[in-house]
Formats: sequence, C-alpha cells, structure tokens
Amino acid sequence: MTKQIHLAAHFPGVNSTTVWTDPRSRSQIDFSSFEQLARTAERGKFDFFFLAEGLRLREHKGLIHDLDVVGRPESLTVLNALAAVTDRLGLAATVNATFNEPYELARRLATLDHLSAGRAAWNVVTSSDAFTGENFRRGGYLDRADRYKRAAEFVETARELWDSWTPEGTSRPFSHHGPHFDIEGEFTVPRSPQGHPVVIQAGDSDEGREFAAASADVIFTRHGTLEAGRTFYADVKARLAAYGRDPDDLKIMPGVTFVLGETAADAQERAAEIRKQQVSPQNALLALEQIWGRDLSAYDPDGPLPDIDPDPDSGLVQGRVRIADPFAVAAKWRALSEEKGLSIRQTVIETSTRQSFVGTPQSVADELDTFVQTEAADGFILVPHLTPGGLDDFVDQVVPLLQERGAFRTEYAGTTLRSHLGLPEPVWKG
Ligand SMILES: Cc1cc2nc3c(=O)[nH]c(=O)nc-3n(C[C@H](O)[C@H](O)[C@H](O)COP(=O)(O)O)c2cc1C
Repeated sequence: MTKQIHLAAHFPGVNSTTVWTDPRSRSQIDFSSFEQLARTAERGKFDFFFLAEGLRLREHKGLIHDLDVVGRPESLTVLNALAAVTDRLGLAATVNATFNEPYELARRLATLDHLSAGRAAWNVVTSSDAFTGENFRRGGYLDRADRYKRAAEFVETARELWDSWTPEGTSRPFSHHGPHFDIEGEFTVPRSPQGHPVVIQAGDSDEGREFAAASADVIFTRHGTLEAGRTFYADVKARLAAYGRDPDDLKIMPGVTFVLGETAADAQERAAEIRKQQVSPQNALLALEQIWGRDLSAYDPDGPLPDIDPDPDSGLVQGRVRIADPFAVAAKWRALSEEKGLSIRQTVIETSTRQSFVGTPQSVADELDTFVQTEAADGFILVPHLTPGGLDDFVDQVVPLLQERGAFRTEYAGTTLRSHLGLPEPVWKG
C-alpha cells in the first residue's frame, strides 16, 4: 500500500523565509493571520498547524534584527484561540524545556488538549544560547551536556503528571524526585483526550536524535534534500529499537519550502524572484556581518566580498546559532564568489534560503511522494514564504494530486492528532 504522507503548516513569522515586501503579506500578530492559515491547512486536511518559538528578539549591532521587529506572540495562547475556530487540525506549540517548569507546562498543554478535543502537540526545544537565557530570572542557560538531560526529565515528568489522573477521572498524588525536578502534589487537570499530547522534537545533535528516539512522536528536521533526508531517516529510525519502539512510532518531518509555477521554467523564475526578495541589499550585508562579526556597512552589496578576515570573538550579533568556524565559511564564500563572479548579495542568495521544492504542482507532488515512498521523510512541515496566504496554492493545486495518487487523505479518519499521525495511544502507567 502507498505510504501515507503527513503534512503540517508552519506559520511563517519571524524568519528569513518570509517575504515581508510582498504586497500580499499581512500581519504576523493579528489573530486573522493565524486563523486564515489554520483554516487553509484544515481545508487541505493537514495533520497539524505549527508555531515556532523565539524567546528573545535577535539583535544586530545593538538593534533589533529587522526581521524580528514585528514581534512574536506566545504560542499556546494563539493555539487555544485557534482551537475554537478549527475542528480537526492538530495544534503544535514550540515551547522551551530549559526555561519552563513541568507542572505549569504540562497543565497548559493538557488544557489545550481538552479545549481542542485531542489536538495538542508540544515541540520540545532546548536553547543553545545564553543570550536568550538573559531574559529569564534564573539568569542563565544550561550547558550543552545538561540541556537534553533536563529536557528528557522534563518530558518524563510531564508524562507522570498526565498519568496521575486515571482514565476513569480520579486524581492521584504524584511525586517526582530527580536531578532537575523535585516535585510532589496533585495535578489540576484531568486526563486529556489524547492522554499525552503529541511530543515533537527539534534538534539535530547526537543527543537530540537520541532524545527523539527515546521520547518523541515526531521529529522536526532541517534535512530536506533526498540524500540528506535518507541518511537522517535511516540514522534516527535505527535508534528506536534500543528503546523498545517500532520505527513507525516516530514520524520524521523536515521543514521545507515550495514554489509552484505553470511550467518548470516559470517556477524557477519565481523561485529566483523570491530569493531576491528574501535577501534585500540590507539583509545581504547583515548576513555577511553575521559571519565576519564586523561592521561592514561601508561595503557595497553589489560589490565584491571583503578581503579582511572575520573577527571570531565578535559580539556583534546576538540570538543566532554561532557559526562554528567563520574563517572556513568566509573562505568558502570567497571561492564561490570568485568562481562565479558573484557580488555580496548574489553570494548570500546563492548560499542561503534555497527553496526545497520548485516546479509544477504535478512535479512537486511527484517529488514529495518520492521522498516519502523512498524513506527520506514521513511527511513535511511546509514553510510558506507569505503570511498568511502562502499555503493557498499548495492546498488547491498539490493536495488534490497527492490525494489522486492515494498518498494523502481525502477526509480525516479520526478526531485526534494522534489518529491523523497514526500514532499509538499512550499506555497509561497506573
Ligand atoms: C528544525 C529545527 C527547528 C527548531 N526550532 C526551534 C524553535 O522554534 N525555537 C527554538 O528556540 N529552538 C528551535 N530549534 C533549536 C533546538 O531546539 C536546539 O536548541 C538546537 O538545535 C541545538 O540543539 P542540537 O545541538 O541538538 O541541534 C530548532 C531546531 C531544529 C533542528
């Protein structure tokens, strides 16, 4: 039987994918934007709607990064509101396990699961930068070694809390004593429709993959090409057996973009246009400064790359994952620019924001299906480049083709997110 594709819609807000200069772009914070995208995803019978999280606006030379000035509302609040205007669509919130407490977060997630009649999901992220940590009372962040330890104990504790009510609706005392959490009492929320909201994991290191294999229902990845996808898929699925889990118990979903056109050439042209919009002259310089760690405002974005070296100790950019070896990146960019005769802006375009699937609706449907049938992914988290109308064409033009070939549902079979994802019900640990 044809393997079924899972689809999710990423609300494209604060990131470098969104094209804010397009006249069709609307607010990233008005409820109407969230509602429109969620309704489109539900019309397309998507598995879930996905919100990322950023707990601090990124800064560049002491100013808020221009892509972040629109701000970002708190995800669970948004999803609770969306629960009221959708019926079947799963609702996934990214929430950090480093800066929250299990009792409080388990309560908020179980509440969303109740209010949505079983559609809640939690994307567990850790945080890799102290810059974000400064926003929190604890005043710091965790070392790499401790981040996933805390996250694993966090998920374990949340599950204990969700299991502390019996399926029949009786509350029982819980107690958890571990290195990170030492809590006991009674949980305030009865067992929710899914028992445990769906757990998603995003993070690519060995520790991250191991954590996903042990604990997650879905893994959100950046490995969006066929080759990288297959390697990642094989690696992660092979880790499940050690935890007594079946490869199907964890769905692998890369975040991907798409550009559709009437012909292949038309789609390529649109993709090139979008990439130019994503990398404005100012954003090209900003991307360059993030690698060089220097003020390069005197350089012409249409001119050559700087011949000075990066400053490895720079604090110029805050809130982005640090480039491990800026000298190596600079050398690569210089070689590319020389080989192809590219300006600063062209080099940044060439090295970033590549669209994952570009083509006619038919060729994109074929490619997505190939990824899933040949084990490069179980599905996709689609990141449109327009807020909030960027999913319309996909739902109108690609989804019907996937349905025709029997690779995607025409109706929701069940009511819960777990049922859409084909995930087992969690066993109640009484
Ligand atoms: C696909 C993907 C999406 C992520 N989304 C978020 C996010 O929305 N918010 C966040 O704070 N961190 C996000 N992260 C960061 C991870 O949670 C983690 O902190 C980071 O990847 C470092 O962990 P690692 O070394 O295991 O990759 C994301 C990571 C990946 C791979």
